[in-house]
Amino acid sequence: MNKKQLEEKTKQTEEIIFKYLPKAEGAQKPVIEAMNYSVLAGGKRLRPMLMKEVFEMFGGTGEVIEPFMAAMEMIHTYSLVHDDLPAMDNDEYRRGKKTTWAQFDECTAILAGDGLLNFAFETALKAEKENNPYLVRALGILANKAGIYGMIGGQTADIEAEKPESDVDGEKLLFIHEHKTAALIQASMMIGAVLAGASKVDVDKIEKCAYNIGIAFQIQDDILDVTSTLEVLGKPIGSDEKNHKKTYVSIYGLERSKDDVKKLSKEAISILASFGQRNLFLEELVEQLINREK
Ligand code: IPE
Ligand code: IPE
Ligand code: MG
Ligand code: MG
Ligand code: MG
Repeated sequence: MNKKQLEEKTKQTEEIIFKYLPKAEGAQKPVIEAMNYSVLAGGKRLRPMLMKEVFEMFGGTGEVIEPFMAAMEMIHTYSLVHDDLPAMDNDEYRRGKKTTWAQFDECTAILAGDGLLNFAFETALKAEKENNPYLVRALGILANKAGIYGMIGGQTADIEAEKPESDVDGEKLLFIHEHKTAALIQASMMIGAVLAGASKVDVDKIEKCAYNIGIAFQIQDDILDVTSTLEVLGKPIGSDEKNHKKTYVSIYGLERSKDDVKKLSKEAISILASFGQRNLFLEELVEQLINREK
């Protein structure tokens, strides 16, 4: 895909997300400022983009998808705000800027994360006026994949795995990657499909496809933590080693990790190509994640 097209799509995605941000005013101003700081800081906007592309692939039209795109980016951003806290990964840079706790303070970052999570559901509910028959199903997916059986579950296992007494094998690591990272990518793509009225069989296929994308995405994140730079990545490298994390690279080595990113991505693309209607931009988007540098 050409760079220009991706930039254009990213810009369109951001315009949608920004429309739904709360106004920083009143007694809540400090927390809202920190919420907006973290969302406006940048990032690839991959999850809302995937959501919209899957929605369109299944013939979805109208504005019902927009509040869900914004909600998804809020939940993802909250997960990062909390992930960077001193009590978790203790990182000071994110998206090329100071992390929320480093820019404000820890209390504000905790509250901003909480605020984003809750405001995500308030935002998604704004889709109600579109009278989409699948709204509740979409909300259920969002709640489940972000929660203890999804992202929060994965972050819990990730923190447990830091402990010296924990022995993390490939299977445990896959649990961590599936939950901390694949879950929100699955939610994004599944919500796109569900709101477009896709069949149960197709939503299940999308869940599997997003599993592959999510695992590949986290393996690549683990690779970049070793091979990239702060300048390119926008966040510190060596964070995993500093925190004694078991990663795909520390367990399998760099070469196998790179091969597996390729394998998983190709598998995901072949699932996407198997649907009646194809979305070539979506296929290219997944393809280019293999070589992403940030
Ligand atoms: C970072 O996600 C956290 C992981 C799951 C690896 P992204 O790499 O999508 O972060 P942004 O949104 O582009 O900053
Ligand atoms: C983060 O994994 C996943 C979530 C925030 C849910 P990492 O801790 O590896 O993400 P980065 O590298 O800080 O973005
Ligand atoms: Mg982490
Ligand atoms: Mg981290
Ligand atoms: Mg990482």
